[in-house]
Amino acid sequence: MHITAACLTIPLCLRFSNAKSTSNGTFTLPQGTGPFRTTLQHTELIDVSRLDPFNSSHHRRLMISRFDPVPQWKCKPIQLPYVPLIVAQVEDEILAEYDYPKDVWERVRLDVCDLQTGDSCSTHGKFPIAMFSAGLNTTRHFSLSLAQEISSHGFTVILVDHPYDTDVVAFPGGDVIYGGRILKPVNGNTTSVDHALEVRADDISFVLDTIGITQEDKVVMFGHSFGGAATATTMLQDRRVKGGVNIDGTMFGPVLNSSLGNPGHPQKFLLWGSEGHNTTTDASWGQFWNSLELSKNVDWNKEFSIINSTHGSCWDLNVLVDVTGLRNGLTETARSLVGPIPGARIWEIMGRYLPAFFGYALNEKPEDQLLREPSANYLEVVILRE
Ligand SMILES: *[C@@H]1O[C@H](CO)[C@@H](O)[C@H](O)[C@H]1NC(C)=O
Ligand SMILES: *[C@@H]1O[C@H](CO)[C@@H](O)[C@H](O)[C@H]1NC(C)=O
Ligand SMILES: *[C@@H]1O[C@H](CO)[C@@H](O)[C@H](O)[C@H]1NC(C)=O
Ligand SMILES: *[C@@H]1O[C@H](CO)[C@@H](O)[C@H](O)[C@H]1NC(C)=O
Ligand SMILES: *[C@@H]1O[C@H](CO)[C@@H](O)[C@H](O)[C@H]1NC(C)=O
Ligand SMILES: *[C@@H]1O[C@H](CO)[C@@H](O)[C@H](O)[C@H]1NC(C)=O
Ligand SMILES: *[C@@H]1O[C@H](CO)[C@@H](O)[C@H](O)[C@H]1NC(C)=O
Repeated sequence: MHITAACLTIPLCLRFSNAKSTSNGTFTLPQGTGPFRTTLQHTELIDVSRLDPFNSSHHRRLMISRFDPVPQWKCKPIQLPYVPLIVAQVEDEILAEYDYPKDVWERVRLDVCDLQTGDSCSTHGKFPIAMFSAGLNTTRHFSLSLAQEISSHGFTVILVDHPYDTDVVAFPGGDVIYGGRILKPVNGNTTSVDHALEVRADDISFVLDTIGITQEDKVVMFGHSFGGAATATTMLQDRRVKGGVNIDGTMFGPVLNSSLGNPGHPQKFLLWGSEGHNTTTDASWGQFWNSLELSKNVDWNKEFSIINSTHGSCWDLNVLVDVTGLRNGLTETARSLVGPIPGARIWEIMGRYLPAFFGYALNEKPEDQLLREPSANYLEVVILRE
């Protein structure tokens, strides 16, 4: 595959610093429970080898966000906007249908380190790479806090937006691509979602190519909801990804019936559902599980659950409602998007378990006790199948 990439990095603060008065006050997200601080950069990538599968008038263009770990002592702290104004406004419209107030998200800030203090642009290989893909019609910005949590444990985390599928993608030059093009399955017709997953997998492989990742490099992937299905689909076509985690996403497409891994390139997979969403209750998970069990080159697969969590517990909205003080005033409808378990607690769980799994999948450490048996420190986590 021949690929050329244009790489334009523009810190969001340059573009949005004069976007809005700050007299309404700002809110700052926690920086992660791990030992590292992090840098953050947003970058546009253009894949000149592909026309956009949803719009053949231009090449496939992506926006990615990248967190790199920085030792505490090297960090020069700065705050960056959590989300560009245009993205916040689109989310406002979507979330208003669930009783959420407007004009809040653009006032949220991330505590990161000045890029000059890290040396992120050139240092791939220093930390393992964890790719991330978000839910259907869901901006990557609403998973930045989760990504920062994981990065604080010593991973370069790269979140990828998938234009025309992601609800809104804002590019540095001012272009905006709106999403909502993917049709949910109708009467078992999954053509649209299957195609979207192939596109997402191609997007991820392209990002890995662009940053020069080879089969020898350390790469894992995780995703929430549709991004979890994208994780499995990516692993099916790209063995550079050694381990994957599907956080609560229904599975579609060829992974249901195909083997992950191949000789010499085993892969590990963790299915991690919210309470009640598991291989018994979701037929696609049951089928995917059987496929994992039959795959000779899947050398580890387990199924976990989190008590008191719902589908929405694992995206940033769950920490955002606490950071912005909204949680107590949420209506039942609004609450249905975040679930009972608090965001900070979910991040503690994810920040402990995901790095343990990633380290194991990358042959950096043995299988952690936490992945093998229940832990008194994390009573919410249940091992359902192994
Ligand atoms: C396709 O992209 C062009 C810009 O290259 C844009 O003007 C046009 O509206 C897009 N069409 C669709 C259907 O999204
Ligand atoms: C504060 O936010 C509200 C709601 O968006 C807005 O109408 C108002 O203009 C803002 N006030 C200031 C001083 O920025
Ligand atoms: C998907 O995102 C678009 C914004 O691009 C929004 O108008 C639409 O309502 C969203 N669809 C759903 C089902 O949330
Ligand atoms: C399935 O849905 C797609 C649109 O997503 C449509 O083009 C196709 O005709 C449908 N197939 C069947 C068999 O209905
Ligand atoms: C997987 O295989 C089963 C049984 O052969 C078949 O019914 C099903 O349609 C297949 N699903 C996919 C997504 O290929
Ligand atoms: C899956 O969820 C159902 C519904 O909550 C529950 O009854 C079952 O015990 C769960 N676990 C397994 C392994 O199926
Ligand atoms: C789940 O939530 C209930 C109600 O808040 C609480 O009593 C229970 O301890 C929680 N379970 C776990 C395992 O945290």
